[in-house]
Parts: sequence; structure tokens; C-alpha cells
Amino acid sequence: MENMDCRQYAPAFQRNCDPILTVLQQCLPSQGIVLEIASGTGEHVACFAHHFPHLQWLPSDVSPSHLESIAAWRNQGRLENLRQPIALDMLNPSWSDQVKLALANVGLSPTDVVAIVNINMIHIAPWEVTMGLMAGAAKVLSFPGLLYLYGPFIQADQPMAPSNFAFDQSLRSRDSTWGIRHLRDVVTVATQQGLILQKTVAMPANNLSVIWQRCL
Ligand SMILES: C[S@@+](CC[C@H](N)C(=O)[O-])C[C@H]1O[C@@H](n2cnc3c(N)ncnc32)[C@H](O)[C@@H]1O
Repeated sequence: MENMDCRQYAPAFQRNCDPILTVLQQCLPSQGIVLEIASGTGEHVACFAHHFPHLQWLPSDVSPSHLESIAAWRNQGRLENLRQPIALDMLNPSWSDQVKLALANVGLSPTDVVAIVNINMIHIAPWEVTMGLMAGAAKVLSFPGLLYLYGPFIQADQPMAPSNFAFDQSLRSRDSTWGIRHLRDVVTVATQQGLILQKTVAMPANNLSVIWQRCL
């Protein structure tokens, strides 16, 4: 089955990739390593690696079938700055050590991780995954590295959009530990890890880009 095409497709990618790209173009540094957590199909990271040829991109996911899909998108794109995906579970307290080891194994400096990108994960996972993400991100990011999150959030000063309300209900009915997160709770966990909120950017379809920076 060597020639089997394992590439998967997420419909949301077609809708959100360009808006996310626009925000990343305004905030990512010009060189270094960008780690993507929960790369899913791998479509985003393949697109980002194409648009940011001077950055090294390291994709990851917890799911074996997603890792296959990411590898398939990588093979198809033949991008030198897109690395082999690595298995990472945000519930594993030592995921930051796994990243450092993986980078060292391919001759990249573990101290050069200038940004972490995470798209549409924290609401489709238990809250502990957000806590694990923040704890590990603070250990992996160089100073002053960026953490970029994209997805729907509940904002204290804004009513929840009906589409997000319905989405939240459907998530919770699928798994009671899932659900759209309150931005203030995510900010609190990030701050506890030394990640300081830089800005939020309103995105199409009631989503947000949220950017943190690691402080010393
Ligand atoms: C809705 S998908 C989003 C995938 C991709 N970022 C995108 O936007 O198309 C959620 C992803 O989170 C990953 N995920 C869930 N729990 C995780 C965990 N504990 N650690 C790492 N990734 C996880 C899933 O495997 C899946 O790829």
C-alpha cells in the first residue's frame, strides 16, 4: 500500500487558512522554528511552510491517522522547511522534552522555537489539554517567543454568537469534557506559566486569533 494517498481534508481549512495566514504574516518573526500543536490533516502547516520559506515548521498531533495525513501532505508538497510530524499529546507532562529531543535529532537547536501555532484544538479536548499546552509551551518557546491560538472563545464583554452557542452545545453533547472555552480562563492559565497576552484579533465566523508572548 506504499502508494496509498493518506492525505485527509478538513473543510474548515478552506475557510480559515487565508485569514489565519494574514495574522501570522503580521506577527511571526523572519527566522527560527515554528511548532504546530494538533496539526490535524496537515493542510495548514503545508500552506504555512509554503508561505514562510525562511521558517522551519515542525508539525505534531496525538492521532496516528492525522500523523499519516500530515506526512502525506509533506511528501506531496516537497517543502524543505517542513519537518516530519512528531507524536505529541498535550496530556503528557513531558511533551516539551519530546520536542527538544526531536529537534536535536534532526540537527535543529531546541532553543530556536520562536512560535507555537495551535488551531481549533482547545474546545475539542478536555480542559486539561489547555493546561498541558500552556505548561509545555512556556518550556519550549524561546524568549520572546509567541503562542498563537485560533478558534472560538467566550468573551466576558460580548454575547455569545448563536452559531457558537449551538456549536458549544453540540461539542458538549458529544463529550461532556469538551466545549468552547472562556478566554479569561485560558488567559489565566497562560499567565500562570509566564505567557503574557499580546493581542486578540477578531476573525471570520466568530472566531478569534489570540497571541501570547513568553516573558522571562
Ligand atoms: C478539530 S481538529 C483541528 C486540527 C487542525 N488544527 C485544523 O484546524 O484543521 C483537533 C485536533 O486536536 C488534536 N488533539 C486532540 N487532543 C489532543 C492532545 N491531547 N494533544 C495533541 N493534540 C490533540 C486532534 O488529534 C485533532 O487533530
